[in-house]
Amino acid sequence: MRQRQSDYMLWAKTQGRAKFNLATSGVGPFPLHELPVTIEQLEINGDSTYGYAPLQNAIAKKCGVDPDCVVAASGTSMANHLAMAALIDCGDEVLLEHPTYELLTSTLLYLGAAVKRFARSEQSGYTLEPAEIRRVISPRTKLIVLTNLHNPSSALAPDSALREIGDLACSVGAHVLVDEVYLDAVYTDTPMPSFHLGPEFIVTSSLTKVYGLSGLRCGWILAQPDLARAMWRLNDLFASIPAHPAELLSVIALENLDHIGRRARSVVEADRALLAEFLGSQKAVSAPRTEFGTTAVLRLIHGNSEHFLSRLRGEQDTTAVPGRFFELPNHFRIGMGVDSNMFREGLQRIGRTLNTLG
Ligand SMILES: Cc1ncc(COP(=O)(O)O)c(C=O)c1O
Repeated sequence: MRQRQSDYMLWAKTQGRAKFNLATSGVGPFPLHELPVTIEQLEINGDSTYGYAPLQNAIAKKCGVDPDCVVAASGTSMANHLAMAALIDCGDEVLLEHPTYELLTSTLLYLGAAVKRFARSEQSGYTLEPAEIRRVISPRTKLIVLTNLHNPSSALAPDSALREIGDLACSVGAHVLVDEVYLDAVYTDTPMPSFHLGPEFIVTSSLTKVYGLSGLRCGWILAQPDLARAMWRLNDLFASIPAHPAELLSVIALENLDHIGRRARSVVEADRALLAEFLGSQKAVSAPRTEFGTTAVLRLIHGNSEHFLSRLRGEQDTTAVPGRFFELPNHFRIGMGVDSNMFREGLQRIGRTLNTLG
């Protein structure tokens, strides 16, 4: 039987919330009233077929690509699904990083892929190592899938490693799908989308995580024009057209992205400073330090993380994401970019529970 559900999504939608919610993955909500928009700029119906031209152009401009290379999608979630569904057939070999975002695994299994894993080791700070891909790639490999920034660790992969992986993919006629939903959380010298590294690269991203605009569902795929056209055609089987008010709001959001990004950055950086202080004073957990991103993965030195997290929720009304969703038992993931008072208190509550573990 093929996989037809995501355990992580069920958990996130039903169990993730608490008074001190550190189970987030993106920046807290950007409020509509801060977007310079009037009701006159909105309309219910519009001219959207294979994309809404102003939105296609705005995404293309942001990414430095031709609009023919942009396929709009409902968030990075649908972008990933659509890209994978267009690229692989049932039984195709796909290489997927380990650890990774659970929805990538479950979507690949749903599509019937033969999934092989390559390691991003905790000891190396979850660095993307082309040598690990060289170890598992085969002439049957059709696709290599990874996240950059890495979820859960936020490790940044340099272009040199991505280029090497692109070369490996080319040597067997495969593509590389890079989920870059967190990449704009590299606030200075933000790397260009890896789409620019070569035609073998396909990129997915959105405005959801780094900008606090999840409700707009403004996502996209960057692919070569022939592949982009095939993805648009496949999308006809999934969704007819997007909600037009969301397209209009997304265009306005893209016009104001610098302002939205600055607001997000100040919260993420405040939370990162709190996390660094917490990690510096806590001996019961270890975690690679990162300069970027909205998530961090912590390892519990002693004890069982499921037991720890259930006590944290029960006694402290605080949540973090269980490591099992990243195939990392004894770990948990926490999210930055949320209200810093709540984040500080959530960390203190984590600390209090850790101190009772003995
Ligand atoms: C790596 C990764 N890709 C995609 C998504 C989903 O993004 P979106 O909200 O844009 O659908 C997430 C959400 O946590 C994620 O971590």
